[in-house]
Amino acid sequence: MQPLFSRGDWRTPGEPTEVVNPFDGAVIDTVPTADAAEVDAALGVLTDGAGAMRAMNPRDRAAILFHASDQIAADAEEWGARICAEGGKPITEAIGEAKRAAETLRLSAIEAERIGGEVLPIESAPNGAGKLAFTRRVPCGIVAAITPFNFPLNLVCHKVGPAIAAGNAILIKPAGVTPLSALALTRLLLECGLPEEAIACLTGPGGELGEAICGDRRVRKITFTGSDAVGAKIIAAAGVKRVTMELGSNCPVVVFADADLPAAATMLAKQATANAGQVCISVQRVLVEQAAHAEFRGLLADAFASLKTGDPADESVDVGPLIRSSDADRVQEWLDEAVSAGATRVCSGERDGSLLTPTLLDGVEPGMKAYDDELFGPACGLRAFDSEEEAVCMANETRYGLAAGVLTRDLSRAIRLSESIDAGVVNLGPGTEGSGPQYRADLMPYGGLGDSGLGKEGPRYAVEAMTELKCIVMHP
Ligand code: SIN
Repeated sequence: MQPLFSRGDWRTPGEPTEVVNPFDGAVIDTVPTADAAEVDAALGVLTDGAGAMRAMNPRDRAAILFHASDQIAADAEEWGARICAEGGKPITEAIGEAKRAAETLRLSAIEAERIGGEVLPIESAPNGAGKLAFTRRVPCGIVAAITPFNFPLNLVCHKVGPAIAAGNAILIKPAGVTPLSALALTRLLLECGLPEEAIACLTGPGGELGEAICGDRRVRKITFTGSDAVGAKIIAAAGVKRVTMELGSNCPVVVFADADLPAAATMLAKQATANAGQVCISVQRVLVEQAAHAEFRGLLADAFASLKTGDPADESVDVGPLIRSSDADRVQEWLDEAVSAGATRVCSGERDGSLLTPTLLDGVEPGMKAYDDELFGPACGLRAFDSEEEAVCMANETRYGLAAGVLTRDLSRAIRLSESIDAGVVNLGPGTEGSGPQYRADLMPYGGLGDSGLGKEGPRYAVEAMTELKCIVMHP
């Protein structure tokens, strides 16, 4: 059993929880099951840890993060293999995630040394004569990071890196099904010099743990990535606390007839099926100009058909399993429901346990779950539009707004749509590799509108959100 880390030590409370390889169902490890009492005890020690972190020189905080970043970069294959085994992510993508995690920690380290404040023009205030006022950014105290299964390392680093950079203690609650990368990261940060009272990583299923963490006043900031339904529960339980919520989406991409259609088809097929579609910025709604509809459907169908589904540990595999067989059931149900409601199945999704081959639908529309909700599966749907105005309306007919894409060679049109599409990130281009809604560089501000969440990640923005702005006024 892998122990969890709490109260400054490696411990094994509760019954063992199995960690299962989503591809073949093999038990790859077990982890302890923490409960509300463990949360309470962990927060007691983290309170001391918050003091230690606050007192630590920012250069020392940066050094811990630089060191951890270098280690992950050097051992990216080992980290990738762990991500692949616990999350079912194809190995090449999983190693890519490990490299991104190294970058996220490096960016966080840089931010540790840039936290400052500003001098206010207080003398211009009617009651400010002779005074000096300035701001400082101070740590929140204890940050709780509740992290998802789909990026079990990098999305933990996006929370833990900035929390340490900002001088906070950190309580990690990794997804119940993918705790191993978070535990390994905890171990590495301790080896790199993080004080043992400044971190805890509590494993086990969500419910009781989540409630105990979110409802505790000692936690001053919650940063969560996951579904909008769980996000809403966390907000309700949090009381007066800072929250950052990275929630779902059903990302649109608008494809005009003047785009590089063959390149766009290859790129969008990848962005709809990476990590079996279990990415918050997966391509889900492909809005295509009527004049290019038939041609693009054929190109996209060919691109989907060329993707290989299977064992994620095999380097030639593009699409691995869904995290659980029950998730594959749900995705299949939503796709079947769309077909019953009038959509056409262009590429059929074949099912084998938790594997689902990529599915392309045509004629999706509002009222279908596969259009309105977050599908989180290896599939996307096409819908044709006649005018730019109609394309914008379709892109915006969603309660989400995390990321979008506009594929065209017409720069003025691209800029116009970037202004009128409601999303946290809008990607513009003719359709070249990697240029759709799923593009993310870890330094970007990342966070959505509407039900896609609150606040931004990206180390620079997360550090801001994990510090309090304090104002100091000196009177003559
Ligand atoms: C997410 O699924 O929320 C993160 C996507 C990414 O970091 O690429």
